[in-house]
Amino acid sequence: MTTLTSPTTATPPAMPRELVLRVMPMPADANHNGDVFGGWIMAQVDIAGSVLPARISKGRVATVAVKEFLFKQPVSIGDLLSFYSQVTRVGRTSITVQVEVVAERNPANPEVVKVTEAQLTYVAIDHEGKPRQFNQTS
Ligand SMILES: CC(C)(COP(=O)(O)OP(=O)(O)OC[C@H]1O[C@@H](n2cnc3c(N)ncnc32)[C@H](O)[C@@H]1OP(=O)(O)O)[C@@H](O)C(=O)NCCC(=O)NCCS
Repeated sequence: MTTLTSPTTATPPAMPRELVLRVMPMPADANHNGDVFGGWIMAQVDIAGSVLPARISKGRVATVAVKEFLFKQPVSIGDLLSFYSQVTRVGRTSITVQVEVVAERNPANPEVVKVTEAQLTYVAIDHEGKPRQFNQTS
């Protein structure tokens, strides 16, 4: 019988995916097609993405980079949007998260679809807006 041994180098445990925001777009958030304006969704994703970095760094954060912003499905007025965030990297002053947005729609025949995902990086900042080191281990 083969005995499995633990690896000598451990990968840091994956941080859990967390619901960080729920919001329902209103008619004022629509574009000229009647769907929800992409810029409104981007703003909500930015707010949602900042939740875990602000908690982990215990203070102010600023968005430094947004990558891989995908709009997979249109969003309609009245969809209930849930924003899930997962930390994918913790640096010396920065934290990167993956945000996924799912829409619950059509209450008579409920449907849940992933509408948007994005990767965002936030930098912990001090009172002067300069990068602030919060992670002593990296
Ligand atoms: C965020 C800000 C304070 C960073 O200052 P900076 O002098 O450019 O910072 P640094 O070059 O020292 O990098 C700080 C961290 O950001 C990371 N970073 C910088 N540019 C990055 C990029 N394009 N993608 C991912 N991470 C990036 C660095 O790797 C570093 O992380 P680490 O310390 O964990 O390794 C500054 O760029 C700023 O004020 N930007 C405007 C922020 C803002 O107003 N955002 C709102 C959107 S309008």
